[in-house]
Amino acid sequence: MSAMLRAESLSHRVPTSEGPLTLLNNISLQLARGESLAITGASGSGKSTLLGLLAGLDRPTEGRIWLAGDEITAMDEEQRAAVRARCVGFVFQTFQLLPGLTAQENVMLPSELRGDRNAAGRAAEFLGRVGLEHRLGHYPRQLSGGEQQRVAIARAFASFSGNDGILFADEPTGSLDAGNGEKVIDLLFELNAESATTLVLVTHEQRLAERCHSHLRMAAGEIQGADLQPRDGGNLSEVSA
Ligand SMILES: Nc1ncnc2c1ncn2[C@@H]1O[C@H](COP(=O)(O)OP(=O)(O)O)[C@@H](O)[C@H]1O
Ligand SMILES: [Mg+2]
Repeated sequence: MSAMLRAESLSHRVPTSEGPLTLLNNISLQLARGESLAITGASGSGKSTLLGLLAGLDRPTEGRIWLAGDEITAMDEEQRAAVRARCVGFVFQTFQLLPGLTAQENVMLPSELRGDRNAAGRAAEFLGRVGLEHRLGHYPRQLSGGEQQRVAIARAFASFSGNDGILFADEPTGSLDAGNGEKVIDLLFELNAESATTLVLVTHEQRLAERCHSHLRMAAGEIQGADLQPRDGGNLSEVSA
């Protein structure tokens, strides 16, 4: 089976007044459909930069990335936007819900922009799956932090049109208390299993990293180490990299 996500020798540099600054150096990775990957590392190690590049939000200065079989590094912004609309969901650390829209309107926005006539129905369905069927008409300020994070997750899952989705989440539990954090994580893995979505999570939590099939540890823009986890109590040898 072809990989859902593959990156080959990614490096990313940005210009500064003191010359180019290397944010990422020589990162390669691969993830099969339906699998989960955790990315951990100290603050400033390049996790968010890497996530944005892998999701096609930005372009690396060197290296190649394939998403669902398409080489996004060979595309312009418009073509990458089309790939994102087809298969990418992104959960931002700070939710990034629009304050003037209700929960349902926030979740339906990406599918509406795609021209989906059933955007409202799909949004209600995904909000039901995250346990917020009774909060469709609430505005973000009327929701708790945990509820807002669940809206952001419903929006990410509703945002791609195909079955072939990949969901990127940047510290999805970073601003939640332990109880709500646990619920959000359970939810991500449930939706991952139900809809065979591929997951890429940036996290500070070892416990969360341990639930993923594989785990990359980053330091100063480089991969410092990688593990494959046993899956469903199986052997490491049964896990496909
Ligand atoms: N556009 C940019 N210009 C200059 N430095 C940046 C830029 N984006 C990120 N950085 C720096 O790159 C490093 C990695 O950032 P980031 O990917 O956000 O790390 P993490 O998510 O692991 O905390 C940080 O030191 C950050 O300050
Ligand atoms: Mg970050």
